[in-house]
Amino acid sequence: MLSYRHAYHAGNFADVMKHVVLTSLLKYLTQKDAGLCYIDTHAGAGSYDLRSEYAQKTGESGLGISKLWGTRDAPEAVKDYLALVHQFNSAPDLTKYPGSPWFAATLLRPQDRLALCEMHSSDFPLLKKMFAKDRRVHCHLEDGYRFSAGLVPPIERRGLILMDPSYELSHEYETAIATLGKLHRQFSTGTYVLWYPILDERRTVSLRRHIENLPIRDVLHLALRVADRKSLPGMYGSGVIVVNPPWTLRGAMETALPFLAVELGTSDKATSEIEQWVNE
Ligand SMILES: C[S@@+](CC[C@H](N)C(=O)[O-])C[C@H]1O[C@@H](n2cnc3c(N)ncnc32)[C@H](O)[C@@H]1O
Repeated sequence: MLSYRHAYHAGNFADVMKHVVLTSLLKYLTQKDAGLCYIDTHAGAGSYDLRSEYAQKTGESGLGISKLWGTRDAPEAVKDYLALVHQFNSAPDLTKYPGSPWFAATLLRPQDRLALCEMHSSDFPLLKKMFAKDRRVHCHLEDGYRFSAGLVPPIERRGLILMDPSYELSHEYETAIATLGKLHRQFSTGTYVLWYPILDERRTVSLRRHIENLPIRDVLHLALRVADRKSLPGMYGSGVIVVNPPWTLRGAMETALPFLAVELGTSDKATSEIEQWVNE
């Protein structure tokens, strides 16, 4: 039984960072006419009301998207992302926040396809309803780790796979890495995005070791720390591992992430990091 609900966390600093990366990747990958397959192994509900009891209880969006809402001047990747969140709200006030499937469905074209996995019995119907009229979208009430193996390689031979687990279970880091390795073995040219929360630095070191043990060459690690561990207990950073990143991603993030560290930082210890994890 899953208890995690993304409605508590929607629009927090980690969502902002992850969705800036996601939209930047989608923008690049849709430049070519050929169809693209987007797979979201942990899709969530698709849309979140920031005035809901869930969102109000944690107030996490107040330290994320709310801080950027009035921003006019931002690096291109952040500006593109913010324009989409404004489009989703279609009003001057920020009252709702889109999930990853909406960002993808909005940037993808008629020739593209989306496969969304979500296992929560309350969030799945919301997701399915949101895309009921979009024939490009297929929603699956399935375990994204297992089900995604049957989706790759996609017929399009071009794909973006987002893995955005809730890390509720103790073995989930291992499961996420094992799934990434398996999917990559089946479809080595796909672009993969794996998000993880930065709760302590040892976890990042261990993740790196595990990733470097996989036969994957091209890995870009992106991190945003809004504080250090001492000043912000719990999640003080957001990490994104991108396998087979397009060449444009590094440049885009070199301006976007330092900007986010300044705007979303809650202490003078806020930092951003971009590193190639090289597997020889
Ligand atoms: C961090 S949230 C996803 C947020 C979403 N990707 C976004 O960016 O808007 C993780 C979601 O994964 C779902 N989930 C947890 N374990 C799952 C699994 N094994 N397969 C599919 N979904 C799962 C949870 O119910 C939750 O909605």
